[in-house]
Amino acid sequence: MSVIPVKGTHDLYALDASKNRYVREMFKNAALLYGYHELSVPVMEYTEIFQRGAGESSDIVRKEMYTFLDKGNRSVTLRPEFTAGVMRAIVSNKLYATEDLPMKIFYEGPAFRYERPQLGRYRQFTQFGVEAIGLDSAAMDGETILLAIQAFALLGFEHLSIKINTLGDEESRKNYKKALKAYFSEHIDEMCPDCHERMNINPLRMLDCKVEHDQEIAKNAPKIKDYLSVASEERFYKTLSILNSMDIDYEVDDGLVRGLDYYSEVVFEIHAKSESGNDYGALCGGGHYSNLIKQFGGPDMSGVGFAVGVERVVSLMEELSLFPDLDEGIDAYIIPVGEEMAEKAFELTTSLRMEGFKTETPLYAGKLGSLLKKAVKRNAKYAIIIGEEEYARGVCQIKDLSKAEQQEIKIEDLRDALDALIIQKGE
Ligand code: HAM
Repeated sequence: MSVIPVKGTHDLYALDASKNRYVREMFKNAALLYGYHELSVPVMEYTEIFQRGAGESSDIVRKEMYTFLDKGNRSVTLRPEFTAGVMRAIVSNKLYATEDLPMKIFYEGPAFRYERPQLGRYRQFTQFGVEAIGLDSAAMDGETILLAIQAFALLGFEHLSIKINTLGDEESRKNYKKALKAYFSEHIDEMCPDCHERMNINPLRMLDCKVEHDQEIAKNAPKIKDYLSVASEERFYKTLSILNSMDIDYEVDDGLVRGLDYYSEVVFEIHAKSESGNDYGALCGGGHYSNLIKQFGGPDMSGVGFAVGVERVVSLMEELSLFPDLDEGIDAYIIPVGEEMAEKAFELTTSLRMEGFKTETPLYAGKLGSLLKKAVKRNAKYAIIIGEEEYARGVCQIKDLSKAEQQEIKIEDLRDALDALIIQKGE
């Protein structure tokens, strides 16, 4: 039997798990600042939710989904992203009718894509994301981008590269796709088999083909900015002016089309450089979409959102030393000295835990020296030593493990003393 984890998946233990949680917590804090509420959706949906949501022409749907038949012979897919499932949940629960609009939702959890595992690219990864539904405006788009930027600032990022583009409205994209088709039809013989298919389903996808020669051809393709309707152009400039008014640096990247089919109007990605030159890809990507809710049988409502790849953010934060000390340790390690004292130490530990102190005890009596070493290993602030003779007098020793200081204290005063010492230490 192999004990190797499935290719592209990882186990996260202790500090690694804390780092993943810390990034999600900071994004959640930012989302709460902007008035978002959590929505928890299932890890799997019926396959057509993603086929119709993410779109038949996206690489995700064509090549990367973990899809299987359940025992009832229904095709089910592990979510490759959240947006489609979130829209399905909004329609299933008729949230659009009961919630105040815009409905602002955040979510987090694992997502699954059958990609070639490499730096920053896994088969199971964690996303944190937001969606704001029911207010179709450049201001809502701008606010969403600001939320992402603020979350990265909370994490300590200083130099972000924000790429932004517009895909225009339906009419703009229709004209643009026509122009792309005309351009690519002159080069199609030199292009990869995937691009032959993309040409028929959605020529926009040819712009982010990974094949080098195809990328060269795509460089000279027509640009969306020349096909925008007046309304889409105005809307894009309004969003940019919101970023300008907040002094946000961004780069308009007219090659940015994003890999999912649902986008219309603004799209954006956030990248950050690592000091070692490692490229983790986009840390975060998102944009505006018009048809998802309607496609799932709900009203004609648009939305805007983004998702961040938590593992990529963690890797970069490690490289840039942005994590605070997450190894919190415990408040006190209670050391029984003498066989009789193990039970008393356990009672004391339990009562301190009830009072809200993080405490541990070895559950056996051992040698003082080795248990003090254990207390240090456990990253305890204090060791509380209870011996038989002292216990009989109603006292114990409290030792500050960062200094060589020790004092005797009445057991009944322990709670208050520990409280005061911990407050002092924090200052
Ligand atoms: P996405 O660009 O496909 O967008 O994914 C968002 C982020 O997830 C990426 O920027 C990246 O950081 C991370 N990510 C994607 N694939 C992997 C992978 N294989 N390994 C590690 N990290 C990965 C979406 O998923 C959209 N649903 C975002 C959105 C929300 N748009 C509107 N609302």
